[in-house]
Amino acid sequence: MATSKHDPFASPDRLRPLISTEEIQKRCRELGAQISADYRGSDLLLVSVLKGGFIFLADLVRHITIPMELDFMRVRSYGSRTESSGVVEITADLTGPVEGKRVLFVEDIVDTGLTMTYLMRNIATRHPVDVKVCSLLYKPERKLVDVPIAYLGFTIPNQFVVGYGLDYDEKYRNLPYIATMDDEPPG
Ligand code: IMP
Repeated sequence: MATSKHDPFASPDRLRPLISTEEIQKRCRELGAQISADYRGSDLLLVSVLKGGFIFLADLVRHITIPMELDFMRVRSYGSRTESSGVVEITADLTGPVEGKRVLFVEDIVDTGLTMTYLMRNIATRHPVDVKVCSLLYKPERKLVDVPIAYLGFTIPNQFVVGYGLDYDEKYRNLPYIATMDDEPPG
């Protein structure tokens, strides 16, 4: 969908850096080390939720130093461009069973928590050893349901963010850092 010229986020000069590339890389190193220690000797399966989680996954796995597998799920969350409704459809599923494996979801952001709650429940019915979540970002002010985030990158304020995989209307995923977007000035 094309953004209109009245779109509050259409202009790149409304991007405000929030978390730098360096800060993200440092956190990826720390989380990778922690995950490697915690899952040593386990049958670890990382599950990335597309599309938003793809850059975080790619950086994180390069800091995981134990044998692991990875797979992808793709979901569609119904709602407006900036609000999820909690109605989630799995549009691409895992390629194999998770029975006997320890599943670690790798997400870009837990916002209301509705998407991750749905996915954790869905995977739990498939008899994994356990299911945990690693999320780059968490917006506590938006929480509707509690999601236990075992590995968290950053807690952020209640602002819409883009970059490092996160989009607004499919744009800005390629920014190498996380930015907030200012609303259109009044008048
Ligand atoms: P939740 O179900 O409300 O927790 O939101 C889940 C999904 O909404 C995330 O995986 C993102 O794809 C999207 N989302 C939530 N907040 C933002 C944001 O600030 N920027 C971009 N996408 C977001």
